[in-house]
Amino acid sequence: MKKQNFDSLFVPTYKRDGAPIVKGKGSWLYDADDKKYLDFGSGIAVNALGHAHPALTSAIKKQAAKVIHSSNLYFSQAQIDLAAHLLKNSFGDKLFFCNSGTEANEAAIKFARKKASGTAGKYHVLSFTQGFHGRTYGALSATPQEKFHAGFKPLLEGFHCSELNDIKAAKKILDSHKFAAVIIEPLQGEGGVNPVSTEFLKFLREYTEKNSIALIFDEIQCGMGRTGTLWNYQQHKVVPDMMTLAKPIGGGLPLGVVICSENFSSALSPGDHGTTFGGNPVACALGYEVLKIVSAKPFLKEVQQKGSYLKKKLTVLKKEVSGIEDIRGAGLLIGVQMKEDPVTVVHECKSKGLLVVKAGRNTIRFMPPLTVSTSEIDKAVAIFKSVISKK
Ligand SMILES: Cc1ncc(COP(=O)(O)O)c(C=O)c1O
Repeated sequence: MKKQNFDSLFVPTYKRDGAPIVKGKGSWLYDADDKKYLDFGSGIAVNALGHAHPALTSAIKKQAAKVIHSSNLYFSQAQIDLAAHLLKNSFGDKLFFCNSGTEANEAAIKFARKKASGTAGKYHVLSFTQGFHGRTYGALSATPQEKFHAGFKPLLEGFHCSELNDIKAAKKILDSHKFAAVIIEPLQGEGGVNPVSTEFLKFLREYTEKNSIALIFDEIQCGMGRTGTLWNYQQHKVVPDMMTLAKPIGGGLPLGVVICSENFSSALSPGDHGTTFGGNPVACALGYEVLKIVSAKPFLKEVQQKGSYLKKKLTVLKKEVSGIEDIRGAGLLIGVQMKEDPVTVVHECKSKGLLVVKAGRNTIRFMPPLTVSTSEIDKAVAIFKSVISKK
């Protein structure tokens, strides 16, 4: 296709080039020039079942023929089916549907503040270095990374940041104000695929429980089977009060969820919070299919096996080349920390037909569809190797 400048159409919030994507199948995406890409970004951890999965295309057709939107003024059968299945498969007693990750975190923070609103000054929120929780003001205020704040201040009052995995530092801040919520990704994605220690999560659980503070796990990126268990918190055996979900849960359509214990949901009354589109029936119908497939034990076992396979291959590669500093992550959320800014590596991988996503300052995220095959993993690592061997 003739080279065109599509940038002229959009507010410049993304840097992108190349022909537009027009279709996908399994782990592959195709652009308008029919160039194919092995999609190890999964639309930023969204396409858990890859592209054009038959269960999703069939569910979308079926639900669209029934009802596409009916609002949250009435019960919706598609919402009920997904809600029951999500609660059965998690710690939650009740849930709230919205449209995105940032909205899920906004809602969770509001729920925590509502619960704490009977105690004067109990509105503070703690998050951790390199965390990422979204772009709207509440979630952005809980995202302690200056690069996302620049030009958008003032942020909201009462938000604090502590060093990830540092119990002493967290205790000091927690002791200094009346906190309503602590929000944390049990495995950080956007910030560089940074693991959180079980000891740290256990400390947060004990402290928050003792002081009636909401412990919110943001599993928007690391949940829904991505790390080899349905929820990442299961690997730590630490259960939060609320968990936020988005990305893969809508099967590629916008859907966010706050899963809530009764202790916090009971603070809310009709009219306290709402959304026109949240829990759209078509998105929920897809969510039901994704959850049914991903929550099956044999499926999760395969994610673990394929994740170990990918990690092992990358570890072998680290010994063969000089540019890799570290390899981190769990399941099929693997971060390869490079010695230098990997922006050109990501670009060259795309030229050679492999899509990967930068995270943090110098990490490259490998997060293929959970349905990826081992031969596709082999291909992806071979392309990555050919790019970084030149460096
Ligand atoms: C852990 C985490 N929380 C929240 C968000 C925000 O989600 P959304 O882009 O759907 O608003 C993201 C997106 O990258 C994320 O990775």
